Formats: sequence, structure tokens, C-alpha cells
Amino acid sequence: MIERFLTISTIFAGALCSQPSAPSPIAAPLRELPWGQLNFLHTTDIHGWLGGHLQEPSYSADWGDYVSFAKHLHDRADADGSDLLLIDTGDRIEGNGLFDASDPKGEYTYDIFKQQHIDLICSGNHELYKKNSSENEFYQTVPNFQGNYLASNLDIYAPDTGELVPLAARFKKFKTKNQGIRILAFGFIFDFKGNANNTVVRTVEDTVQADWFQEAIRDRDIDLVIVFGHVDIRSKEYSLVYKTIRSVQWDTPIQFFGGHTHIRDYKIYDGKTVALESGRYMETIGFMSINGLSAGGSDKRYPVSPTSGLSFSRRYIDNNLFSLYHHSGKDSKSFHTEHGRNVSRLISSARKSLKLDKRHGCAPYNLWVNRVPYPHENSIFTWLEKQVLPDQFRQAKRVEAGKKALVITNTGAMRFDIFRGPFTKDTTFLVSPFTSDFRFVKDVPFKAAKGVMKLLNNEGPILDAIAAQKWVLTPPEQTVGRAELIAPEVHHWTMPVLDQQLRLGDGESLIPGYTTKDDAGEDGDDTLHAPISFYNVPNCIQAGVGFKMSHDNLSDIIVLDDEEPEIIDLVYNEFIQSWVLLALQYLGQNYKETDTSTSMEGQTLTSIITEWVEANWNVEGERCP
Ligand SMILES: *[C@@H]1O[C@H](CO)[C@@H](O)[C@H](O)[C@H]1NC(C)=O
Ligand SMILES: *[C@@H]1O[C@H](CO)[C@@H](O)[C@H](O)[C@H]1NC(C)=O
Ligand SMILES: *[C@@H]1O[C@H](CO)[C@@H](O)[C@H](O)[C@H]1NC(C)=O
Ligand SMILES: *[C@@H]1O[C@H](CO)[C@@H](O)[C@H](O)[C@H]1NC(C)=O
Repeated sequence: MIERFLTISTIFAGALCSQPSAPSPIAAPLRELPWGQLNFLHTTDIHGWLGGHLQEPSYSADWGDYVSFAKHLHDRADADGSDLLLIDTGDRIEGNGLFDASDPKGEYTYDIFKQQHIDLICSGNHELYKKNSSENEFYQTVPNFQGNYLASNLDIYAPDTGELVPLAARFKKFKTKNQGIRILAFGFIFDFKGNANNTVVRTVEDTVQADWFQEAIRDRDIDLVIVFGHVDIRSKEYSLVYKTIRSVQWDTPIQFFGGHTHIRDYKIYDGKTVALESGRYMETIGFMSINGLSAGGSDKRYPVSPTSGLSFSRRYIDNNLFSLYHHSGKDSKSFHTEHGRNVSRLISSARKSLKLDKRHGCAPYNLWVNRVPYPHENSIFTWLEKQVLPDQFRQAKRVEAGKKALVITNTGAMRFDIFRGPFTKDTTFLVSPFTSDFRFVKDVPFKAAKGVMKLLNNEGPILDAIAAQKWVLTPPEQTVGRAELIAPEVHHWTMPVLDQQLRLGDGESLIPGYTTKDDAGEDGDDTLHAPISFYNVPNCIQAGVGFKMSHDNLSDIIVLDDEEPEIIDLVYNEFIQSWVLLALQYLGQNYKETDTSTSMEGQTLTSIITEWVEANWNVEGERCP
């Protein structure tokens, strides 16, 4: 395929963004949208980032800008007789102050989110961890998207009647607006097991055998099957759905949309079946188009050559106004619709009410989750292990009274990087939105305690049990089902760096960012970027408190004091409690849940980090870069 690149002739500057403190995007060479007969915009794993990224120009557009963008593309579809559908595949909540900082959580986000018209929407796992967040789906998101929310394998004990019911319709059949393309759609979640007991996730294996599913997929009067869901597009779950549908529809095109692993990805199943995954955190708007679909016998055909056959194209749009203006053919004067501006205003007033810009401190340098190896002076985990955890847990009552402690946390407890500059109330939720506290087992023999992390990190029975339960202890980006991404090595995975630019031969420079390789090649990203390396991190890290230690490798403790402690308080993030207790059991120490107690008066990792920042990075009144 021939690519057309936009030549950048003018510097793109000025206060054009919708959130007042958002940085302006930087002009960059773009690939065009492969607009076609049936087009899709796809979001996934938004995790509350409706305000966009306020420290990263590449992702600085907000939900209001997305509302304006969708309006222009709808207009285009109406003008040329094509169709456009919007899809969201879940994990809309948790991970941004806009959601997490209110009490109750999500006070503002549901009303902001519903301003976008979305044609197909489903739940992620984050909507299901807590009883009250799944009830928010029941009472708010499902009615807000009435008829478009699907729950092929998800039930809820209805809060009003106590009856177990599907959260929403199992599937849907509908026709597109302009061409009458007949679509059969299913909305899945992966085989998730960590949900609160008021919801029931039916396994995909059981679901595809259900009578209703078997009957639905035998419908002959359809032009396209859409399977969307909070499911990794390379998962066993989707393979099974694919095989099951293909076994009875040998020829019908199938389009999958997925999520959960937070990456940009595209998989080609067969000549008539593809799958798209569109990243995370409102960094990416996934674009997909299909040409050559039949349209239910309708004669209103979008003008594609009848000999060209079926074809699929994908594009990952960087969510910033430079990209959105270009792909909609608009500029700063013509792009923003009244509705879009209203939504941006809703977001900025919610951010103001929540005081998300309140500064706790000023980060002196960048700290990365995956962009440097661990250990490293710019690794967020090295920072936690060497500074935050020892400094803060030294203040635990028992440590103050002379006890020693070993503190373990899983790396997945950290969700996002810390950028040099203001560390705000918002930052605390971006970095670690989780509400679990720290717990401890007192006076554990050190000989056993020091073996726990090795069992959680290295191969062995505990890791097998974790995998069997589909638990993930690392950041989700690292868990994609591809063997080459599992080893702790460098990968040209894709994240932005703010303060470096790569010089190209011809004098132009590319901003580092997503450089995606997927089943269709290396031309998926709309913006041409310089690549960024990605490093895997271990499941867990640990810090010694009250004694000096180091690691000879990622697991083994070397005590630097003259003598090893005899006994120690083993402290851990509550999220990993069952695995810590299992590891202790394996090491010959039988402790039960009743042997554990809360540490640090129930503080979360978030509040522990915040206190450390206030004590160490607070530069009140000084300039913050
Ligand atoms: C759920 O309940 C907890 C405890 O009352 C509260 O802190 C939290 O904000 C609630 N979450 C949602 C999504 O309503
Ligand atoms: C869920 O767990 C709670 C508390 O553990 C219990 O009271 C309730 O009966 C359980 N609900 C169901 C539907 O099992
Ligand atoms: C935008 O907000 C204004 C003021 O609240 C309201 O009058 C108007 O109807 C809204 N327009 C749209 C398109 O939502
Ligand atoms: C790391 O620890 C393991 C387990 O004790 C040991 O077998 C291995 O040799 C160590 N690796 C290095 C590089 O020291």
C-alpha cells in the first residue's frame, strides 16, 4: 500500500487544547486514515483519563475533543454514504483522579462519558472488582447506553431484586445507518475471576456452548459479525470464539475488538477475520475500516470497486489535536463543536471541584515503570525500594519500637510514570489508584521471609498457581500473550519520552512514541515516531526496614549488617496476601489470614507515596519545571 505523508511546513503552536493546563501537541508527520465503506473508532482501557494527558503533548486531547472528532467523521460518513460505529471495550474506571478522587468515586465521570454516542460498549474487569462499581454499571452505564451495552458472559445479582440477571443483552443484531449493513454483535469479558461476588463471569468456553449463542451464530442473514470485548486479542478466549463462529459461518467476515493488555495490536485470523486492540488511558483512538462488505441486498452501495474484494485497514491515532484536526480536515477554528466544548468544560470544572491540580511536590526527574530496566536510578521501583518504602515504613509503630520489617509489593501496584515537574493530587491516582492497604505477619523467621519474593518472582509452584488463577502481579502492558515479551529484556515497545528527540538524517526530528509492529506490519501508527525501549520488570520488589540489605540478583537478599535478623515482620500489599501466605506455607511456615493485621494504620501505597513526596519533594513557592 502506498503511504502518503503529510509534510509539515508550519510550526504547530498556540493554546489550542481543551483542558486549560494541557500542553499543545507537537507537529509530526502523519499517515492518513484509511477511510472506507464501514469505519470504526475504538477506545479501550480509558481508566478515567477523560481529561487527556496533561504532561504529554502526544495525548493531550480530551473526551470533549473526541466528541467533536466523532461528529466530523459522522458527517463525512453521511456525506459519502459510508458508515461509522464507535466502540468502547471497558475498564473505563480507576486510574485517574477524575474518577478516583471523588467520594463516592466516579461522581463526575459517568455523566461526562455518556456525552459520546457509543454504538457498542461492554464491561472490563475494573468495573467488577467492587460491588458498588458494578452497580454503577447496572444503574448508570447500561441505561446511558441502552441497547448498545452487551454482556455476552456477564451476570449481576440485580441490586433491586437480588435476582441473577444478565448485566445487559447477550447479543444484538442491527443495521448500519447509511448502508443497512447487517451486523451481529457480541460483547465479552475474558475469563476473569477476581470480581466481587455480586457479579458472575461465565467462562467463554461455557458461553460459546450455550443454546442462545449457538442459535445466534447460525443466523444467515448477516453481513458481518462483530465480537468486541475486554479480552486480549491473542487470547485463548478469542481463539475459541473465532473457531466456534467460523465452524458455522465459513465465509462471513468477522471483526474483533479487544482490550485489557493496554497495547496497540492487530491480529489477522484469516482473510476475512481481523482483531484490533487500541492501547490505554486515552492515548490512542483506534481506527478501523472494512471495504467490500455486502449490505443486506441494499442497493445503496458505498462506491468501492466490486472486484476489489474484502479488505481491512487499521490506524492507531495519537490522541492529540494535531492528529484530530488533520484526520477530520478541520482546524482550530472549525474543529470544536458546541457539544465538544461543553464536554471539555464539564471536565475542567470537575477537575477544579476535585482540586486535581493541587501540588504535593515537584518531581526532580522522570521515574519510569517500564522505560528503563530495573534496577535503575530512573526506575520507579528502585525509587520505591530504596527511598519511599524504607523512609515511610520506618515510621510504622513496631519498627519505631525496634522491630525489623521486610516490605513486599507487586509491581502492578504502580500504573504510570512520574514526570519531572508538578506532582499533583491527580498524579497520586495516575501512579497508583489502588485502595488496598498493607498487611503484615509478625515475627516471621527471617530464613523463611527472605525466600518469599523469590517464589513470587521466579519459576516454581507459586507462579504456576498465580498463572492458573489468571492473576497478574506486574503492570498489564507486560502480560501480552507473546512469549518474546515475557523475558526481562529490551523491547521496542512504545511509549513517549518528553525530553529527548531523535534526529533524523534529513534534519527532521521525530518525537519518541508508539512504533507498533503488528500482523499487518509497521505502518499502523498515525504519527511517525522514534522508537522507545521497553523493559520487563519482576512481579514483586522488596525493601528492608530497620536493616541494610541488597540483592545479588533480582531475588536474593544479602544482609549488609553484621548479622541477619532472626525474625522479622513480613509486610506486603494486601492485593498479594493469598500468594504471600502460600509462599510462606511452601517455606514451611503455616500462617492463616487471621494471623495477619493491617500495617501503617491502613494507609495505601498511594497515601504512602504522597506523604513521602510532601516530605521530600515539597518545594513550596519555588518554581517547578
Ligand atoms: C464504593 O464504596 C466505597 C466504600 O464506601 C467508597 O469509598 C467508594 O467510593 C465507592 N465506589 C464507587 C465506585 O461508588
Ligand atoms: C457475597 O459475600 C458477602 C460477604 O462476604 C455475603 O454476605 C453475601 O451473601 C455473598 N453474596 C452472594 C450472592 O454470594
Ligand atoms: C452546551 O451548553 C449550553 C450551556 O449549558 C447549553 O445551553 C447547550 O444546549 C449545550 N449545547 C450542546 C450541544 O450540548
Ligand atoms: C540468582 O539467584 C538464583 C537462586 O538462588 C541463583 O541460582 C543464581 O545463580 C543467581 N543469579 C545470579 C546472576 O547471581
